[in-house]
Amino acid sequence: MASIKFDQVVKRFGDYTAVNNLNLDIEDGEFLVFVGPSGCGKSTSLRLLAGLESISQGIISIGDRPVNGLSPKDRDIAMVFQSYALYPHMSVFDNMAFSLELQGKPRADIKQRVESAAQQLGIEQLLHRKPKELSGGQRQRVAVGRAIVRKPAVFLMDEPLSNLDAKLRVQARKEISTLHQDLNTTFIYVTHDQVEAMTMGDRIAVMKDGILQQADTPANLYNHPINKFVAGFIGSPSMNFFAVERIETEGKSYLKWGENLIDMQQYLPHLQPDMGTPPLTLGIRPENIYHPQYIPPDIHGFTIRATVTLIEMMGSELVVYFDTPRGDELVARLDPRAKVRSKETLDLLIDSQRLYLFDCNEHTL
Ligand SMILES: Nc1ncnc2c1ncn2[C@@H]1O[C@H](COP(=O)(O)OP(=O)(O)OP(=O)(O)O)[C@@H](O)[C@H]1O
Ligand SMILES: [Mg+2]
Repeated sequence: MASIKFDQVVKRFGDYTAVNNLNLDIEDGEFLVFVGPSGCGKSTSLRLLAGLESISQGIISIGDRPVNGLSPKDRDIAMVFQSYALYPHMSVFDNMAFSLELQGKPRADIKQRVESAAQQLGIEQLLHRKPKELSGGQRQRVAVGRAIVRKPAVFLMDEPLSNLDAKLRVQARKEISTLHQDLNTTFIYVTHDQVEAMTMGDRIAVMKDGILQQADTPANLYNHPINKFVAGFIGSPSMNFFAVERIETEGKSYLKWGENLIDMQQYLPHLQPDMGTPPLTLGIRPENIYHPQYIPPDIHGFTIRATVTLIEMMGSELVVYFDTPRGDELVARLDPRAKVRSKETLDLLIDSQRLYLFDCNEHTL
């Protein structure tokens, strides 16, 4: 059993609270990703679980056993760090074998485990080399290999791919996901990269300022963000936000966004017209904005006039930045076939089925 429970966990460094009342249950075999901006408490949460930091308050359990008082080596976990922390004077084999030797495992057993892990990671040709004779990607695999040989109940990984270039990251990401499937062990993975989080996690725990905002599946985080922060953090380019005003005329409620009146009953029927304390913010994802000549037949909504300020042709998509007459900035992911010119003014279609609304506390309504 290697389920994990954070129960009202707090970590303070002096007066500063790095992790603030963390409650989180992680299932046995789950791949959970901690994500959030720099300094939000991701690494600290992982280090508390690993036993590398003491817990100020609350209980962390692995399986059904509280581990607050246990030293790191008694927690049955293995951690891969961003820096890899390989021993430079030791061969790859010895780096991978080191922890098993400390445990006093028989020589033949160690050899078998190291070779099997090396094969799984495709580094069996490199066992005699020293870390400085390896590429970044190969070092990263050695660091993962060193964790695998221990057959821990839980793998902890703190930004293990951040030293790799973009292409290698994509490959290594797939390898770690495959490894998780093969090993069927609980993985907890820290990253500040939301794409990594979305592609790898069974569930993602989004943190901000030491506080867990939302822990959910990638699809639920994307479709049902609990607040404006999660809505803006998940998805690239980020969701657009616009200040809107609620107005009542002739017994109907509207959201006023510049010249546009958005009929709440029609476009946000799941909301009560009087819901939420103003000021209100409207949220629209870039992929829910359409070029007037490329509107799929099942998409309906209202239009907004906007002027092109910047065009980024990505091949498979066209990311275009706009200014609206009211002075809002807006980013849209348009059909790559669209011919868009700089400074051109377009009547963009907004998919009215995909609107988000946030109240004064930035909670999703
Ligand atoms: N040993 C320490 N002493 C004092 N403050 C610390 C210590 N370790 C971390 N902190 C502070 O706690 C906060 C959370 O740090 P943490 O390393 O968990 O952030 P993170 O989310 O992993 O960020 P990053 O993405 O930059 O790695 C930061 O403000 C950091 O400065
Ligand atoms: Mg960190």
